[in-house]
Amino acid sequence: MFTTVARPSTPLPRDLVGAIQALKQELNAVILAHYYQAAEIQDIADYLGDSLGLSQQAAQTQADVILFAGVHFMAETAKILNPHKLVLLPDLAAGCSLADSCPPEAFARFKAQYPDHWVISYINCSAEVKAMSDIICTSSNAVKIVQQVPPSQPLIFAPDRNLGRYVMEQTGREMVLWQGSCIVHETFSERKLIDLKLQHPQAEVIAHPECETPILQHADFIGSTTALLTYSQRSASQAFIVATEPGIIHQMEKACPDKIFIPLPGLGNCACNECPHMRLNTLEKVYLAMKHRQPEITLPATTLQAALKPIQRMLDLS
Ligand code: 13P
Ligand code: SF4
Repeated sequence: MFTTVARPSTPLPRDLVGAIQALKQELNAVILAHYYQAAEIQDIADYLGDSLGLSQQAAQTQADVILFAGVHFMAETAKILNPHKLVLLPDLAAGCSLADSCPPEAFARFKAQYPDHWVISYINCSAEVKAMSDIICTSSNAVKIVQQVPPSQPLIFAPDRNLGRYVMEQTGREMVLWQGSCIVHETFSERKLIDLKLQHPQAEVIAHPECETPILQHADFIGSTTALLTYSQRSASQAFIVATEPGIIHQMEKACPDKIFIPLPGLGNCACNECPHMRLNTLEKVYLAMKHRQPEITLPATTLQAALKPIQRMLDLS
């Protein structure tokens, strides 16, 4: 977990969006946002996408400053790709339960047990774990990347056991799995999914591969957030039960205003299908980060260098 940097209290402008646009010009900044951000943040982004799309944008941006409206590992990836640029995260405490489920020291000990294995790590991990990996992948290219590794090469897949199991099923390839998971995608209730299917028999179930098998086995389509969005646009169905963080529904409704998108609830009567880390970012914090040029992402030079290679391999293989 990361501590939030204390900033001098600053009066907020009445036109927050206008002030953010002005700061963007002044700093020559780009705003990259993930689909799990609040709708008002998605609406001011220069680029909105899934983890792969965001990494590709970060790799090619001409901006001097990157405001990353997402979580810590995403902003770290942007920093690794742009070590000399200022990378801002609106709230440094915006971490990721999945990345936290793979502490670097424990992972180093785990990896040491399999000296002949390559490590394929899901991008949802710390820069330190990336630095120990051979190739990074995201939910949109994990299958494609594993398929490109020579069949005789043994593999470790970290940190998401659910994505790892899904990739094993899709590729028929055995991998040693680190047993990490995402608190959001693990919370979905199969019982509530079955109830929703009974209430909406025509609806298709679309799910992110971070979900557990009992949810995935009901899915008509499984894919990354971008893939789910594209599928919902192309499908002839008029209704969808969406098994991922419901932030994505903002774009689904924008693209297809006549279709119905039903968020799959979590186990309790809570908003626990919303990512508590992603939702720490607010429009106010975006403004303050750009105004004060902090909180800034910083990493040791050795980590920056070591983590770049496996990310670059991913970009080359995608
Ligand atoms: P994608 O961005 O690859 O769809 O992954 C979703 C996610 O959980 C990001 O943390
Ligand atoms: Fe991490 Fe899960 Fe939130 Fe994605 S949804 S950022 S994997 S905690």
